[in-house]
Amino acid sequence: MQHMIVYLNGDYVDIHDAVISPLDRGFLFGDSVYEVIPVYQNQLFAEKEHLDRLTHSLAAINIPQPLDHAEWVNIFNQLLSYPHEGDRMIYVQVTRGAYAERLHASPAAIVPTIFVAALPVTKKDVSQGIRAITVNDIRWNLCRIKATTLLANVLAKDAAQRLDTHDAIFIREGFALEGTASNLFVVKNNHVFTPPLSANILPGITRQLVIDLLRQQDIMITERMIAATELVDADEIWLTGSVSEIVPVIMLDQRPISHGNVGIFYKKATEWYKNNLEKHYA
Ligand SMILES: Cc1ncc(COP(=O)(O)O)c(C=O)c1O
Repeated sequence: MQHMIVYLNGDYVDIHDAVISPLDRGFLFGDSVYEVIPVYQNQLFAEKEHLDRLTHSLAAINIPQPLDHAEWVNIFNQLLSYPHEGDRMIYVQVTRGAYAERLHASPAAIVPTIFVAALPVTKKDVSQGIRAITVNDIRWNLCRIKATTLLANVLAKDAAQRLDTHDAIFIREGFALEGTASNLFVVKNNHVFTPPLSANILPGITRQLVIDLLRQQDIMITERMIAATELVDADEIWLTGSVSEIVPVIMLDQRPISHGNVGIFYKKATEWYKNNLEKHYA
């Protein structure tokens, strides 16, 4: 990794000098949560929504929110002020902290570890669509928490790559939920569907923005469960995420979606998404 200044527990240090104890519970137990905040033109996008979700994730695992909104934003902007090349995103991770003993139960007197970095992002051109597979959802039952324990997501992504595809969609009890790092949208007969928020779906910031943008344009959009069998004859499938934005899936489990071409709704939704960004940074 190139030299970069990161924030660790109150200090700004070179990433090569950033040291975390092996007794940190994030390392030992995956006892930690994270956020990814997109950056456009070196400015934060939707940081309030991301910080609100971080607060919810922390509360869900009983870690006190260590900083207030202004303190977080100061750190992000400080990191973004350092010279860099290419696109970046803000990565935030808060672990329960390091403790002298390896105890499953969380110790009362423990100080959270806070790590923030403006990490490089390689943006791929996905406008021609990606190939994906479906996989059995072996994740835990609280995927709405943005926890760093992402082993099932890693295995699903690896399975997708072994099959020369780009991503995987999780199927649980016959329903399609979301991608390995994205929310799911399906278009059928000029109607857009996305699974409703539940314990096993991350409340994606991009998901909500896309829903709002579609509603503003009077597109029929309904939040409802999507049976895995509906994916097969969907007119369009998209995956959404803060850094990836809207990604059209044109092959699923080796079968073409929308004849293997990106759909008209994807094109419109992407245009509205880009327009919204342009308005934001005008
Ligand atoms: C499992 C999962 N679902 C959905 C998303 C999309 O969330 P957002 O739009 O807030 O980036 C992510 C993002 O990392 C994710 O990991």
